[in-house]
Amino acid sequence: MGRVVIVTGGAGGIGQALGATMAANGDTVVLADINMERLQEVAAATGCDFVHMDMGNVASVRTAIATVAQKYGRIDVLINNAGIFRLEPMLDVTEETYDLLMDINLKGAFFALQAAGAEMLKNETGGVVVNVASAAGRSGRPTQTIYGLSKAGMVHMTKSAAIALAPKVRVCCVCPAAVDTDMMAANFAARRAVSGDAEAEAFKAKLLLGRMSTAQEVADLVIYLASDKAAYITGGSVDISGGLDMH
Ligand SMILES: NC(=O)c1ccc[n+]([C@@H]2O[C@H](COP(=O)([O-])OP(=O)(O)OC[C@H]3O[C@@H](n4cnc5c(N)ncnc54)[C@H](O)[C@@H]3O)[C@@H](O)[C@H]2O)c1
Repeated sequence: MGRVVIVTGGAGGIGQALGATMAANGDTVVLADINMERLQEVAAATGCDFVHMDMGNVASVRTAIATVAQKYGRIDVLINNAGIFRLEPMLDVTEETYDLLMDINLKGAFFALQAAGAEMLKNETGGVVVNVASAAGRSGRPTQTIYGLSKAGMVHMTKSAAIALAPKVRVCCVCPAAVDTDMMAANFAARRAVSGDAEAEAFKAKLLLGRMSTAQEVADLVIYLASDKAAYITGGSVDISGGLDMH
């Protein structure tokens, strides 16, 4: 059966790359997402199982984790990858946007970690959680205040959970930027709507490596952190941002 892996946001760009690669490596992968139509297509294409999970609803998160634990008898790896993005000047942020981003990106991720972590503690071999945060969680972002806040929360949650669940369960975090997925396409479109090409081009110019990353590059780092090769890594967050924010 291999390790039992749950990938949230499994119907998205990074989720799909994770599912395809981990399933090919012999893991039993369950992709979790709110977009059931896309989820079923991706699961069929990648050889993964799937489960409905709405990260904005704690009961749904708990039900999905329990369903997987019951079906396979264990959970070995959780990749907390689901997320949404909004571009909004700080002074325009509404309570509705604040709650939406924090609920889906942070609250849902926390309760998924809590539920999956409890399952992993039952395993003789423990388990691993990898949180997909963002470079936006590590530095100031005046037009991504709440997105950045939710991702900074994931960075912090990684440290606390690593302490709480040690030594059986490792908890790691990655901080990507500019990954070539639907989310980044929407991000650039939003920047263009607000300030024409200037802001999108200024953002691209800050990428020291001169290009966006592929979803596969992020997936490969996550897979490394979830593997035994990373057995001495816990609590930390690893940048995979093409050198963004180094100036
Ligand atoms: N693309 C980037 O440039 C970038 C940069 C930094 C961090 N990230 C992070 O990487 C992760 C994956 O993003 P991606 O680029 O693959 O984006 P994506 O938009 O392709 O995928 C995100 C997935 O999350 C799912 N999702 C949204 N709301 C959900 C909910 N309430 N419940 C369950 N699933 C939900 C979507 O349906 C989608 O399948 C996100 O957490 C994102 O914040 C992305």
